[in-house]
Amino acid sequence: MAHEPKDFRRLISECQGFLSEKQLQAHFTLYQGYVKKLNEIESSLQQADREQANYSYSEYSELRRREPVAYNGTVLHELYFENLGAKGGAVPPAFKKAAERALGTWDAAVADLKAMAESAHGWVLVTYDWNFGVVRHNLVQSEHHVGLLPNQTVLIAIDCWEHAYFADYQTKKDAYLNGLFEHLNWGPVAKRLGLTPAGEVKR
Ligand SMILES: [Fe+2]
Repeated sequence: MAHEPKDFRRLISECQGFLSEKQLQAHFTLYQGYVKKLNEIESSLQQADREQANYSYSEYSELRRREPVAYNGTVLHELYFENLGAKGGAVPPAFKKAAERALGTWDAAVADLKAMAESAHGWVLVTYDWNFGVVRHNLVQSEHHVGLLPNQTVLIAIDCWEHAYFADYQTKKDAYLNGLFEHLNWGPVAKRLGLTPAGEVKR
């Protein structure tokens, strides 16, 4: 079944003063490209000759090797756009508590995310780590999958590729990040957290 790109045009009004319409539309187009490629790969896999599978090259092998790029390019962008929104939302207490337990203080958690974002070209993810029962920060590098840790529920996805901010901020990544932290959409984040044991933490 073909995947359909989701509509995130609400962000054009909600992110005024943070991301321009030009910046967002370019990003939506890029995201839609990943959805298209995911559909192409999944369709081609139905026909590809499994008898020819080979480490060096075969159509089937190459499709499987490229599948995570289109899959994660699709899903991580959807998580990112979902967790952006209007300025001024309050941090859910359970999320703040979980971040404090992981990093010591809220300020330390935010500082760590900014340091990771400065380190990345790729993604910075705040996750719930089912392996160790803690909130974790995960740096995902090239092609949307290098460094992605297993058994994580993504709570916040931060796009740190240049295409996410370059039209508006050029090389001023720190200004993009400052705006992003003001425009996190905490509703979906709280919902994601609620699917994990960390969502039950009360102050
Ligand atoms: Fe992106």
